[in-house]
Amino acid sequence: MKILVLNGPNLNMLGIREPDIYGKSTYKDLVEMIESHCSSKGIEVQCLQSNHEGTLVDYIQQAYFDKVDGIVINPGAYTHTSVALLDALKAVQIPTVEVHISAVNEREDFRQISYVSYIAKKTIMGKGFDGYLEAIDYLNN
Ligand code: DQA
Repeated sequence: MKILVLNGPNLNMLGIREPDIYGKSTYKDLVEMIESHCSSKGIEVQCLQSNHEGTLVDYIQQAYFDKVDGIVINPGAYTHTSVALLDALKAVQIPTVEVHISAVNEREDFRQISYVSYIAKKTIMGKGFDGYLEAIDYLNN
């Protein structure tokens, strides 16, 4: 089982950005938590982050050529704007789970649309970093 965990814009700023919403732990903490979870389950995992939409599209396309079995994606603000990310996920047809650290459904109106949701097998929100582990376990079953 090979999983790609993809984080979008501003998620490299975890721990600094709006800690009341996203918590005090850093992106490095998140990656360490995911890597240790995956190693205990014998899952091969790669964690990537970019602030750039096109780079995220490139990473999704590369996952096809790398024969990745599942994608966990937190597209950050691109969740609410990016048809390009949706089309990339449709192109590669890799089972995908969408994760949001915050409870997006309880936030502003402009966050209520998710393009990625059209392809995601499951959306997990409001569970903090644990949401990523739940997504990985879902794909691993
Ligand atoms: C987020 C929610 C998005 O609305 C926001 O733009 C983010 C993070 C989350 O993890 O809760 O950058 O995806």
